[in-house]
Amino acid sequence: MSATEDLKTDHRAIERMLAVLEAAAQRLESGQRVRPGLFRDAVDFVRNFADRCHHGKEEENLFPRMEAAGVPRVGGPLGVMLLEHDRGREYVAAIAGAIDGYEGGDGSAVGIIAENARGYAALLRQHIAKEDNVLFPMADRVLSPDDQRELEQRFEEIETKVMGPGVHERYHRLLDDLERELGLASG
Ligand SMILES: [Fe+2]
Ligand SMILES: [Fe+2]
Repeated sequence: MSATEDLKTDHRAIERMLAVLEAAAQRLESGQRVRPGLFRDAVDFVRNFADRCHHGKEEENLFPRMEAAGVPRVGGPLGVMLLEHDRGREYVAAIAGAIDGYEGGDGSAVGIIAENARGYAALLRQHIAKEDNVLFPMADRVLSPDDQRELEQRFEEIETKVMGPGVHERYHRLLDDLERELGLASG
């Protein structure tokens, strides 16, 4: 699998979690209760699978190589992608910070979680579309075969050494479980 195909595969898993967050927000908005642990699980997934692993592949590996190959960071697509990663972290921090209050019956926490879950999902959906349709085709044009090979190796290392063996599989099982819990079709 090429480096950009690997990243696109991550995107498909992340989109499944975005659908979970949107479905959970929908329930909150219609006055239904959602298990607080579901949001804890979603935050854990987003922080580790999406941010640490996937955004690590992009920020520490793909983007610097694209920059070295002549794609500008400041005022260019890489700068926009980095800003959006940061904006995503803010939404997730807001969700994480409201879960205890939600669990304890604080009424204002419901709106904070729903709003930030919606905001995060909308941000990431358009971010992923830009990467899949614009940034990754650009990477495939500017990166050398050596760059591509080294990226594939590095991604493999991130999966096994940084994340740990079996961690990806565990997060895929979590997606299955949360989709089942919310009555979503498994993707
Ligand atoms: Fe990204
Ligand atoms: Fe991405």
